[in-house]
Amino acid sequence: MSREAEKRLAAAKAATLVEDSMRVGLGTGSTTAYLLAELGARPVRAVFVATSPATEQAARSFGLEVEPFGANARLDLAIDGADQVDEDGWLIKGAGGALTREKLVAASTDRFVVIVDSSKLVASLHAPVPVEILAFGASSTLHRLAPCELRDVAPSPDGGLIVDYLGEVHEPGALASRLSTTPGVVEHGLFAPSLVSEVLVGIGETVRRMVVRGEHD
Ligand code: 5RP
Repeated sequence: MSREAEKRLAAAKAATLVEDSMRVGLGTGSTTAYLLAELGARPVRAVFVATSPATEQAARSFGLEVEPFGANARLDLAIDGADQVDEDGWLIKGAGGALTREKLVAASTDRFVVIVDSSKLVASLHAPVPVEILAFGASSTLHRLAPCELRDVAPSPDGGLIVDYLGEVHEPGALASRLSTTPGVVEHGLFAPSLVSEVLVGIGETVRRMVVRGEHD
């Protein structure tokens, strides 16, 4: 099975979790794109919150109702991809640069479901770790974050610059604290297991469900 087929399988499984009248957060990326297509093909009457302009546009093109984040900040469910998932449920996210909005949505839902293909499973997390920083004082923030590299992409929809931290990850919790407390950092792409309810992994022709923190913690 190809990675794309595994992504599609995981996305299809996640789509079955969406029920009428739910408020559902939608991530960003190619795995989420399969989810949007699945949701568009189902007669489910949920309301969606998008983590990027690209997701919002694609969701609308599939006929999904998208509302701004904030009208009622609590979500019943959020579904998103990831770049890496370790055995404890730590994630690295943000290859698509949407990490700040993705983390806000993940932190605002009762159930955060991650959908990945099997190549995303890792024994231990490794660089790059995407980080969003303020444009103001960017050079001094880059200096504090070294080793890192400014990504050659457009600013985030919130005006932040996307940087890839290139150092060791060894202890994700310690690195997450360091990144969070670095002046100039808006958000980083390390997602703690406490945010993650479960991970649906497409493996060959099946989907493995990895429960991380239980569904209603
Ligand atoms: C975007 C993300 C994506 O969820 C992550 O990069 C995975 O993307 P894909 O599903 O294309 O492999 O964090 O900011």
